[in-house]
Amino acid sequence: MSVTLRKATGYDLDALNRLEQVAFSSERFSRRQLWHLLNRANAETLVAEGDEGQLLGYGTLLFRFGSRRGRLYSFCVHPTARGTGLGRQLLEALEVAAGERGVERLGLEVRADNRVALSLYRRMGFRLESWFEAYYSDGCAAWQMVKTLGSPVSDAAGESPVERAG
Ligand SMILES: CC(C)(COP(=O)(O)OP(=O)(O)OC[C@H]1O[C@@H](n2cnc3c(N)ncnc32)[C@H](O)[C@@H]1OP(=O)(O)O)[C@@H](O)C(=O)NCCC(=O)NCCS
Repeated sequence: MSVTLRKATGYDLDALNRLEQVAFSSERFSRRQLWHLLNRANAETLVAEGDEGQLLGYGTLLFRFGSRRGRLYSFCVHPTARGTGLGRQLLEALEVAAGERGVERLGLEVRADNRVALSLYRRMGFRLESWFEAYYSDGCAAWQMVKTLGSPVSDAAGESPVERAG
């Protein structure tokens, strides 16, 4: 299947909302929140589109005026498209988009129990920065991770950050 990465538009709202429902098991954005993200000036959303126009993934970046630091605010791949490298491809495109907006340090928060996302971020060169206890509504902790854009990716997954936290 061929995949196209492009900037999201307001027309993607319904499809993004459907994707959000199936991609996340908790902490989902509402349609209203997604609308806000799509239409706010200081954010950028990229979508991955399959050859029949179906949305296979998306990621949203937040920017702050006057700041070289950006935030990966949401990022997911449709369950049927996981494990094929799309997450990595989308993340690479998001880093490029952030760099084009002047971001030098890209941060994110990730559930401490999300091993797939944690290892993807680590392999992509994100470093653990802070630990937030009980960050999510179900009590799960979060890691804040940061990458200096342009820094090399790691080829070793290394020690599990979840175990290190314990
Ligand atoms: C995290 C997520 C975006 C990864 O997307 P993906 O398309 O599966 O990612 P990729 O196919 O590029 O795989 C990335 C790495 O994870 C590994 N991986 C993917 N699925 C895996 C699984 N179920 N178990 C173990 N490893 C897995 C891949 O082998 C790959 O490793 P590699 O780079 O060494 O080959 C996806 O799992 C997802 O949408 N999860 C739910 C939402 C979420 O957690 N978002 C992140 C919020 S911070």
